[in-house]
Amino acid sequence: TTQGEGLLSVPATNASRKLPQTIIMGVRKGGTRALLEMLNLHPHITVAKTEMHFFDWDENYQQGLGWYRQQMPLSLPDQITVEKTPGYFTSARAPERIQAMNSSLRLLLIVRDPAERVISDYTQVLHNRRQQNKSFQPVEQILIRDGEVNTNYKAIQRSLYHLHMANWLQRFPLGQIHIVDGDLLIRDPLPELRRAERFLHLPPRIQASNFYFNHTKGFFCLRAEGHERCLDDSKGRRHPSVSARALSQLCTYFEGHNDSFFKMVGRSFSWCR
Ligand code: A3P
Repeated sequence: TTQGEGLLSVPATNASRKLPQTIIMGVRKGGTRALLEMLNLHPHITVAKTEMHFFDWDENYQQGLGWYRQQMPLSLPDQITVEKTPGYFTSARAPERIQAMNSSLRLLLIVRDPAERVISDYTQVLHNRRQQNKSFQPVEQILIRDGEVNTNYKAIQRSLYHLHMANWLQRFPLGQIHIVDGDLLIRDPLPELRRAERFLHLPPRIQASNFYFNHTKGFFCLRAEGHERCLDDSKGRRHPSVSARALSQLCTYFEGHNDSFFKMVGRSFSWCR
């Protein structure tokens, strides 16, 4: 007998639904979908296709771990299950809830230049509001209010990585959290995936031949078993232009926050350069 979910050749007796051993917890617009899809190229990885929002949405969490496990894909005994929900990173409850499920779980966090991330976040919300025929404000009016960086803007708060990271480090040792550089994943995915494989104790199976640069999309796309595909149109959107002045203001604002994050994780990134 066989079962669905893309595992058509898997005997039903061997396959089971497991709680994730790894979670991509954020950051929103950091490249979480690209990371998940790229990890899925690994034969020892199986992924939950949609964002579960189990640990950050109370109505889901109340369904219990049995429900959560049922949402997971079938996996073989030598496969690990990965789930991604970028909302976990900024959720106050997610760290303790994930720790309660599995205190030795390995967490993946993909980060990206915080200023770029804000604009990407804005672009996504703008797209959604346009689709719903809702009004929207031009990007600079949201970013800068009365000449100052608008610190009330949610997207800016989500880019204060150290504030959110502090909550995770209260529950998980730094060694259990692997940080993927989202800017590098865009430019050259393989080395970042190698590092992720090592962190997950998986043999290196993702290959350079799994990627090709698609000039139309302007991003790397995936190739597996002779089949080529790019991430969908919602990934790699064109951003609205932001003046050099506003961008520089944003970067100055983030500088101190970024330094706090670098100290916290013992690593620095070349953001805002
Ligand atoms: P933009 O659409 O702003 O460019 P997430 O999946 O967390 O929402 O992140 C979306 C971001 O992933 C995109 O933001 C894009 O920059 C980035 N990304 C990284 N690798 C990509 C790839 N190979 N194809 C498309 N987008 C990719």
